[in-house]
Amino acid sequence: MSARSWAEPWKIKVVEPIHMTSRREREAHLRAAGYNTFLLRSEHTYIDLLTDSGTSAMSDRQWAGMMMGDEAYAGSRNYYHLEEVVRDVYGYPELIPTHQGRGAEHLLSKLLIRPGDHVPGNMYFTTTRLHQELAGGTFHDVIIDEAHDPASAHPFKGNVDLAKLDALVKQVGADRVPYVCVAATVNLAGGQPISLANLAAVAAYCAPRGIRVILDATRAVENAWFIQQREPGQRGRTVAEILRALCDLTDGATMSGKKDSLVNIGGWLGLRDAGLAAKARNLVVVYEGLHTYGGLAGRDLEAMAIGIRESVEEDHIRSRIGQVMYLGERLTQAGVPIVRPVGGHAVFLDAAAMLPHIPRTEYPAQALAAALYAESGVRAMERGAVSAGRDPKTGEDRFPRLELVRLTIPRRVYTQAHMDVVAESVATLFERREHVHGLRFTYEPEYLRFFQATFAPVGADVVLDAEDAADERAPAFATP
Ligand code: F0G
Repeated sequence: MSARSWAEPWKIKVVEPIHMTSRREREAHLRAAGYNTFLLRSEHTYIDLLTDSGTSAMSDRQWAGMMMGDEAYAGSRNYYHLEEVVRDVYGYPELIPTHQGRGAEHLLSKLLIRPGDHVPGNMYFTTTRLHQELAGGTFHDVIIDEAHDPASAHPFKGNVDLAKLDALVKQVGADRVPYVCVAATVNLAGGQPISLANLAAVAAYCAPRGIRVILDATRAVENAWFIQQREPGQRGRTVAEILRALCDLTDGATMSGKKDSLVNIGGWLGLRDAGLAAKARNLVVVYEGLHTYGGLAGRDLEAMAIGIRESVEEDHIRSRIGQVMYLGERLTQAGVPIVRPVGGHAVFLDAAAMLPHIPRTEYPAQALAAALYAESGVRAMERGAVSAGRDPKTGEDRFPRLELVRLTIPRRVYTQAHMDVVAESVATLFERREHVHGLRFTYEPEYLRFFQATFAPVGADVVLDAEDAADERAPAFATP
């Protein structure tokens, strides 16, 4: 029997037109945006792989749910529906809705961190670490070394290194470690999963020491899929069962519903401890909104409740990650250096390997993301030294080992043909890589600088030299 291709488990009911621009137009847009892809207008983007956050397509069921929004200030029925779904799928009895993930991170950091505390985690995430620092804590990376090596084929590069965790706890004392912050599929490591066995070992280490384990559940469904595929003994379980097993090992979770849960806005804090939850409900009123809406409309809560159920359907998650794998394979075939293994939500280009002629102080990943837009209208995101920001104590640039560009795939939005165009665009840029120029800051904001900073090319007028001959590339319709 011959093999069959897989296809997306949905058909398209509503379409949103997108437009290609000319190379000259894109150069002008890039200059106006200060070579920061966050500052480009969406309408000037052809294929938008900036982020998978809030960019998913909702289903007909979710849109129908939007019409069932109960917009009461207090006690909306959509809140109770969401509470029931989170209890069932994630297993946390206490639910505090927030406008998005960082709202939950803010509440949790304020509740648990005292000035001078230390928070270990399996690699940092930008907003998560900033909230820990603003609450007076210091973040410590305790991820395994393989996570910092783009070429390592370790199946669970999101794992915590228990020796690093133990060394930190011994050094500062368990009473200065309020919790371990464990991310499921580690975004900045390239969307890499943590194994169930490793999380169990973290939980077993923490429990007798009175240290909580808090999950960043933002992409935990994707993590559960990797466990099903890769961890010995897990093949026979459903993604939903594995997700629940992950959460059962933790004391609580912060969640950005904008990823796994297939909604455009929303998040929550899930807890087991009723006393802590009461404090969180008190704080949410100050920063987000009443504890039954947390900064969201009733319809948003409903869309998220339905999206959570859809997110753990096996067909959905298989095709979602299958599409990311497909793009990764095409880039590998073209010889483009990417983070291996391919992660759950994105393909990460290894900008340091791709552009060895650009020093780290001229931000090769920022330059590569800008050059990719100039070349093709594809929008990606820097995940390297610009994202890492400055050390709050020394004020110096932090240079993480990984200097990456993230091609992030929104859920249920693009087809395989879009992935082919992206792969061809990156491959073309790869061939012309020595024509990419480094960047320097022209404006650097204080917090989360990557979102709003502006740049200028170093020693050139453009970030990517124009081609010698025609610089316009019309899409070619290849005949089979
Ligand atoms: N945790 C992780 C792992 C994330 O990736 C994000 C957001 C957050 C927390 C914060 O959630 O955006 O809802 O406030 N990541 C987006 C991204 C911004 O593009 O990766 P939020």
